[in-house]
This record gives sequence, C-alpha cells and structure tokens, in this order.
Amino acid sequence: MSKVLITGGLGYIGSHTVVELYENGYETVIIDNLYNSRIDVLDKLEKITKKKISFYKGDVRDKDLLRKIFSEEEISGVIHFAGLKAVGESCEIPIEYYDNNIGSTIALIEVMKEFNVKRIVFSSSATVYGKCKVVPLKEDSPLDATNPYGRTKLFIEGILKDLYESDKTWEIGILRYFNPVGAHKSGLIGERPNGTPNNLVPYIAEVAAGIRPHVRVFGNDYDTKDGTGVRDYIHVVDLAYGHVLALKKLDEAHGLLIYNLGTGTGYSVLDVIKAFEKASNIKIPYEFYDRRPGDIATSYADPTKALKEIGFKAKYGIEEMMEDHWRFQKNLYIK
Ligand code: NAD
Ligand code: WQD
Repeated sequence: MSKVLITGGLGYIGSHTVVELYENGYETVIIDNLYNSRIDVLDKLEKITKKKISFYKGDVRDKDLLRKIFSEEEISGVIHFAGLKAVGESCEIPIEYYDNNIGSTIALIEVMKEFNVKRIVFSSSATVYGKCKVVPLKEDSPLDATNPYGRTKLFIEGILKDLYESDKTWEIGILRYFNPVGAHKSGLIGERPNGTPNNLVPYIAEVAAGIRPHVRVFGNDYDTKDGTGVRDYIHVVDLAYGHVLALKKLDEAHGLLIYNLGTGTGYSVLDVIKAFEKASNIKIPYEFYDRRPGDIATSYADPTKALKEIGFKAKYGIEEMMEDHWRFQKNLYIK
C-alpha cells in the first residue's frame, strides 16, 4: 500500500495528523530530526494507532536521506510540517529560519521530482495575512509578512505557486492554519513547549500547573470587545483532519488549492482564560502588560472555502480545546 510521507511527523500538528490518517485508512512514513520533538512520541503514535510506523531520524534538507526513503518506501504524497515556527526566535536567528524552512522545502521538492511523486500538502499559516485589518480573513485577502518566520511561509507559498505554474501535473495543497490548541483525547500526545511558551494556551497551562505566577495579557486597549487580542483557536484534531480532506481532494481534483483551516470564531485572551478555568477548575491569575510588538487586534478565518470545497468544518468548541490541552499538559507537570 502506498504511504504518505510526513515531514516533522513527531511534532505537535504532524503527530495528530498521523493519527487521523491511520483512522482514515492511510499509512504513513515519518521523517523528523527531533529538533523540537522526542522519540517517545513514536511509541505513543504506535500505541494509539496500533500500527508499526516507519520512522527515519534525520533532516529534510538531507537529500540523500530523502532518496533513501523514497527508494525504500512506496510514497504517494507528502505532508510537509517540518520547520521552525517561533516568531520571536525568527527575528534573532533569521538565517536559520530561511535555511531550515525554505531549504527543506526545496530539497523535498527536488527529490519528489526525481521520484515522480508530485502531491504535496504544505503547512502554511494565518501569519501570511500580516496586519490585514479586514476580518474574516479569506484566502484571497492581501498577503504580507511582518517577521522572518512569516516571510518563510510567504516565500514557500510563492515557490509552490511557481512550481505549479511551471508544471501543472503537480498537486499542491496549501493549508493556512489559524491558532492550533488542544491535544488528542488519549492524553498521550500534545504540544510540549520548550522553555517559556510563546503561545497563549501553553502559557496558561503552565500558570495552572503552578510553574508561572500569572498570565501576562499583552494589551487591554485593542479595539475588541474586552480590549484583549482576538484569535481563531482551532482544535489540533480538527486541524489534523483537514489534512486528510485536503489529500482526498487532491486525489480527485488536481491543481493548486489553498484553504484556511480555522473555525471562523474569534475568542479574546480573557475568553480563553475563562474557558481554561472552567475546563481545569483552577483559578488562573492574570495581569495586563503592554501590547506585544507585532501583534494585531483581531484575526479569524473565513472558513467557507474549505467547507464548500473539501467539507472541512471544525467539530470541537473552545471548552474541549481547553479540556484536551489541559489533560495532556497536566500530565507533564503534575505526577
Ligand atoms: P513542531 O515544532 O511541534 O513540529 C515540527 C517538527 O519538525 C518537529 O518535530 C521538529 O523536530 C521537526 N523538524 C524541524 N525542522 C526539521 C528538519 N529540517 N528536518 C526534519 N525535521 C525537522 O511544530 P508544529 O506546531 O507541529 O508545526 C508544524 C508546521 O505547522 C510548521 O511548519 C509550522 O510552521 C506550521 N504552523 C504551526 C502553527 C502553530 O501554531 N503550531 C501555526 C501555523 C503553522
Ligand atoms: C494569541 C493571543 C497575544 C501569549 C502565533 C504566530 C502565528 C501562528 C500561531 C505559526 C494574542 C496573546 C499570548 C501570552 C498573551 N504560528 N498572548 N499572553 O500570536 O496569534 O500566533 O502562533 O504559524 O504565526 O504568530 O498566537 O498564542 O502567541 O497569541 O496575552 O503569554 O494571546 O497577544 O492576542 P498568535 P499566540
């Protein structure tokens, strides 16, 4: 049976996508250099899926390793998650971000071409909408990047569009994720932040676990219902299932397809804190801080294109996002 190669498959979104793929009859092969993940995720994935999963430890920029994988495994398509993703860090070490994110994509495309595998789904991000003020964000909203990480995503989208223009036999899915949170119901896999969390929900979870004294709410003077930033949080299991739908679509409709993966609903920072308190039954102290540089007031998706064309609709609400996130993260801290 042909398999889907999952780059970065031991990471947060990749691992959940591996589970969804098996649940929908696909098999996978994973390549990951463990830069931001741990090998025990592979055991957890095998436990959840009850399958033996082929794993190659190494870097996607290593073309010889990619050639080995494509020679040994029957690969029918690739989902490309591998990359660096921290906005702040990308301003400190931009060249590493360009090298890793763009270098891995080019190496991957070159080897795919050698093996005549021309189906790829790429992890893009709502960050490509930059500071766009008109919400909800649609796939044809203006694009812009405000930091090196975002620029890598915009460049890669451009590379994939140029590739498709040059050879229309490629089948390309570009998925723009909004704010993934939550974890698999088993509590076995989830997001494992390295150092101080940048993102809101992992930070709240560390406050709930008593590791940090309070949530720093970045800004309470935005033009939003309570002054705090509004985002489109999406359960990682919903997001993962979006990849299954995108792959299915590429099976029947060739081309270059771009979809937002979000819920279409925006929640403020204070809404999220409240939902987390309810889910965990723990009081979450917070304090207001200055706005975080580069942040915008409001970002949420217009999810109608993904609904219409691939049948994507998020199932889980904010309560389950927080419950599932906490179930996984509390096990890391509270034994
Ligand atoms: P993650 O860091 O948990 O997963 C990425 C995985 O890729 C890690 O396991 C890491 O070890 C691996 N990796 C990194 N560089 C590699 C390389 N050169 N070769 C092999 N493996 C490599 O991140 P995630 O949250 O699962 O994100 C997955 C993708 O989705 C990324 O491309 C990210 O930019 C994108 N994305 C993430 C978010 C988010 O908020 N998490 C939002 C939008 C888009
Ligand atoms: C959410 C809201 C903050 C932390 C980032 C990337 C984006 C994408 C997803 C990869 C904002 C506020 C946050 C905190 C806070 N990643 N906040 N205190 O900034 O929407 O998106 O992750 O592609 O590219 O930029 O997510 O979780 O950091 O912030 O008040 O400690 O929470 O100001 O309003 P963001 P986030």
